[in-house]
Amino acid sequence: MKKLVIYYSFEGNTKLIAEDIAKAIDADLLEIKPVTEIETKGFMKFFWGGKQAMMNEKPLLLPLDKNPEDYDVIFIGTPVWAWAPAPPLKTFFDTHKFENKKIALFCCHGGGKGKTLEKMKQALGEQNEFIGQIDFVDPLKRKTEEKVKKAVEWARTICGKINCNTK
Ligand SMILES: Cc1cc2nc3c(=O)[nH]c(=O)nc-3n(C[C@H](O)[C@H](O)[C@H](O)COP(=O)(O)O)c2cc1C
Repeated sequence: MKKLVIYYSFEGNTKLIAEDIAKAIDADLLEIKPVTEIETKGFMKFFWGGKQAMMNEKPLLLPLDKNPEDYDVIFIGTPVWAWAPAPPLKTFFDTHKFENKKIALFCCHGGGKGKTLEKMKQALGEQNEFIGQIDFVDPLKRKTEEKVKKAVEWARTICGKINCNTK
């Protein structure tokens, strides 16, 4: 089975988890990037990013360098913004429809994930099989190694269950 890890990350937490999962299960990696990123990483990020999230804005994305259609097993990760997937993911879900994929979801947040994972499932639709979900509290800030280990074990267990190393 062909495996892909898709993610967006503003400050590196989701990127860290995505990269380690991809390495652990030998998957390709696809980073989603908006054409225009929020400019500040300071406190104003909550204002501009929060506005984008609350207004349900869907920023334009840079072209993807892999086609998710080519894959059977897809892990998708997002930071939580205003208790929801980050806006670039919303654009991605609007512009890419999946069918008959095995999908695992993960998110990184500061302690209040809300219904982010449920919202991702809803956006992806029931025509896919959801094979796992997990969340992490700011892995770059605290207990990084422990959280990476948890992510790797989670991904490997999922892969083992579905025999994802078969051709
Ligand atoms: C605009 C914005 C909104 C956020 N909203 C939430 C939230 O609703 N709940 C939460 O727990 N964390 C929230 N966070 C924190 C991030 O989800 C968290 O720090 C996450 O680990 C960041 O992932 P990243 O480094 O991959 O961007 C928000 C961060 C930003 C910038």
